[in-house]
Amino acid sequence: MRRVRIRVATPADCQALAEMRYRFRTELESPTEPQSRFVRRCRSWMRKRFCSGSHRWRCWVVDDGKELLGHVWVQLFEKIPNPVNEPEFHAYVTSFYIVPELRNHGLGSRLLKKALSWCRRQGTDAVILWATPGSRSLYRRCGLLESAGIFERRGDAPRPRS
Ligand SMILES: CC(C)(COP(=O)(O)OP(=O)(O)OC[C@H]1O[C@@H](n2cnc3c(N)ncnc32)[C@H](O)[C@@H]1OP(=O)(O)O)[C@@H](O)C(=O)NCCC(=O)NCCS
Repeated sequence: MRRVRIRVATPADCQALAEMRYRFRTELESPTEPQSRFVRRCRSWMRKRFCSGSHRWRCWVVDDGKELLGHVWVQLFEKIPNPVNEPEFHAYVTSFYIVPELRNHGLGSRLLKKALSWCRRQGTDAVILWATPGSRSLYRRCGLLESAGIFERRGDAPRPRS
């Protein structure tokens, strides 16, 4: 295994992060946008998130000193203030990825735990994410539980008749 470190991403990582995002999303689905256009668009999106605190995004990367080998993103989103003892942020975990050649050596778990302990330090309430089928056992091992309490509606889903 290569020696790697996990660190918080900076604006200097945007190009590599955008390229890795393309790699991640096209691993299982065919792209509908040319790679160069996507990388430009995604890089610009990321730069804005790094440079403005208002979106509350944070990203951690796996770095071997030469290149990035994985990433995970977290966005804190606000709850309405409440007068009881309850945290006022939730955290959304997304774009969790390790390059295929380094998978199943514990790197993904290390990366996710780093993000989760930051969430804990921020005093977040729920941490939520949408899991791919293969990653469920990892999430369970990291202390996340599948919840029966979440309702979800996708854009085009027909409304049930009442
Ligand atoms: C999910 C992922 C980041 C885990 O990284 P990793 O370094 O392999 O993780 P670890 O070595 O710490 O843990 C291995 C676990 O990863 C998961 N995993 C392994 N290969 C996977 C794959 N191709 N897709 C999704 N999850 C996978 C499994 O839960 C595995 O645990 P198991 O051995 O109990 O089945 C990595 O597999 C990946 O990038 N997968 C493709 C992208 C993806 O599915 N991301 C999750 C989005 S919700």
